[in-house]
Amino acid sequence: MSRTPSAVNPAPQPAKRMLRALGGESLASPPVWLMRQAGRYLPEYRAIRAEAKGFLDLCFTPDMAVEVTLQPIRRFGFDAAILFSDILVVPHALGQKVWFEEGSGPRLEALERPGDLERLGRDGLHEALAPVYETLRRLKRELPAETTLIGFAGAPWTVASYMLEGGSSRDFAAGKRWAYGAPEALQRLIDLLVEATGDYLIAQIDAGAEAVQIFDSWAGIWPEAQLRRWCLEPAKALVARLRRERPGVPVIVFPRGAGVLYQAYADECGAEALGLDTTVPLGWARAALQPKACLQGNLDPLALVAGGEGLRRGTEDILAQLAGGPFVFNLGHGIVPETPLEHVAMLVEQIRAWPRRAGGAR
Ligand code: CP3
Repeated sequence: MSRTPSAVNPAPQPAKRMLRALGGESLASPPVWLMRQAGRYLPEYRAIRAEAKGFLDLCFTPDMAVEVTLQPIRRFGFDAAILFSDILVVPHALGQKVWFEEGSGPRLEALERPGDLERLGRDGLHEALAPVYETLRRLKRELPAETTLIGFAGAPWTVASYMLEGGSSRDFAAGKRWAYGAPEALQRLIDLLVEATGDYLIAQIDAGAEAVQIFDSWAGIWPEAQLRRWCLEPAKALVARLRRERPGVPVIVFPRGAGVLYQAYADECGAEALGLDTTVPLGWARAALQPKACLQGNLDPLALVAGGEGLRRGTEDILAQLAGGPFVFNLGHGIVPETPLEHVAMLVEQIRAWPRRAGGAR
C-alpha cells in the first residue's frame, strides 16, 4: 500500500514569540510591542485620521482600522499588533452617547443618578460592535505569520469612570461619590460592564484575537478595599469567564497604579500576564510577581520621548531585571504623540540585540 500525500501531516508551526512568552517561556530576546502603538506619533496615522469623519468613525470603519493597526507593524516589526479601537466603544454600544472633541479628548453624556442606568442595555452590543469584529477577521488574514493579534477592552472600573464623569477626570469625584454614597448602584454598573466586556472579548477571540488585554488605567486611585471591590474582583470574574469559555487564550491585565496591590493581582486574578506601570520597582516585580505571571512593561513613555543615554539605560535596566523570566517588553503606559520615530526604532533595535554578548561570548 502506498501512502497518499493527503495522509502526511503538515509540519507543526512554531508558536509565535509573543504567545510563547505569555505561555510562561523565557525568551533570550523578549517580544516587544507598545501600548497605543497606532496613533498620532505616526505621520501615516495622522493622514488617515484626517480622512476620517471622526475618531469613532475611524474605529468603526474596518478598511481604516485595519490600515492603522498595520502601520506600526510595517514600520517597526513589533511582535504583536493591537486591534485599533478604543475602550469607549463599549459605553457607546450599551446606548450611551460618546463623542471625541478635537483637543479635549473623549466626551460622554454622563450618568448622573442611579436611575440613568435604566437607559443602558446589552441588547444591541454585538450589532454595534460588528465592525470591530470585521476588523479583527481581516487583520487575522493580513498580519505577518509571526505577529500576534491582541484584542482589548477597558476594565469595568476604568470604563465606568468615563461613563460617570462624562470624560476624563482629575479627581474621579463622580465615581467616588457613587462608590461611597450609592455602592449598590455602582455595583450594578460594574456588573453590567463585566457581562458586556466578557461578551465583547469572547466575540473578539472568535473573530481572531489570539490574546486579550484588559486596560484598568485608573485602578490606582482607590484605597485597598475599594480597589479590591471595583478593580480586582471584576478582573477576576472576567479572567475566570474567559478561562472557562475560551481556554488557552492568554489574558494580560494592566491595573495601572495598583502599587503593592500588584501582589494581589499576581496571587488572585488568574491572568497569564500582568502589565506593569512605570512606577513598579523592577527587582520587586522580578522576585514577587514574575514567579506567578508573565510580566509586561514598563519603560517610561517620556524616556522614549527624551531618547539618548537615559533611554538606553532605562531599557537596559528593564531587560537586565526582567528578561530572564517570562517577559514582554512594553511601555508603562501609552506612547505619547511627541515621540520621535527614531527613538522607537532604536528601542526595538536594542531589545532585539539582547542579550548583550558578555566578553564576546553568549
Ligand atoms: O494601542 C493601540 O494602538 C490601540 C488603540 C487604542 C486607542 N485607545 C486609540 C486611541 C487603545 C488600546 C486605547 C485604549 C484607551 N482609550 C485607554 C486605556 C489605555 C490608556 O491610555 O490609559 C483609555 C483610557 C482610552 C480613552 C481615550 N481615548 C482617551 C482618554 C483619549 C484621548 C487622549 C488621547 O490620547 O487623545 C482617547 C482617544 C484615542 N484613542 C486616540 C487614539 C489613537 C487619539 C485620538 C485621535 O487620534 O484623535
